[in-house]
Amino acid sequence: MTVVRLLDQDRPMLHFTLDGGPAEARQGDTVLTALLTLGTTVRTSEFGDGPRAGFCWMGACQDCFLLVDGVAARACGTLVAAGMSVVRR
Ligand code: FES
Repeated sequence: MTVVRLLDQDRPMLHFTLDGGPAEARQGDTVLTALLTLGTTVRTSEFGDGPRAGFCWMGACQDCFLLVDGVAARACGTLVAAGMSVVRR
């Protein structure tokens, strides 16, 4: 799944790491928005072979947990910050 950004293309870029590699997002993006606009997902499903990209996108379903600077966080409720480390589980 890839999300295409249609608005706010002029917000400043932020650089962070995703699973140890370089990645970038726009200021104000949530981690989930960043992942989806990068064309990737949050994790693989524990019940099947499909990737997961969050479900509710509003902090209710717990489907988007990953590690942000070593601490479990919801991708949909966490804003990307410059230098942040994001690790998918
Ligand atoms: S997508 Fe549901 S809590 Fe993040």
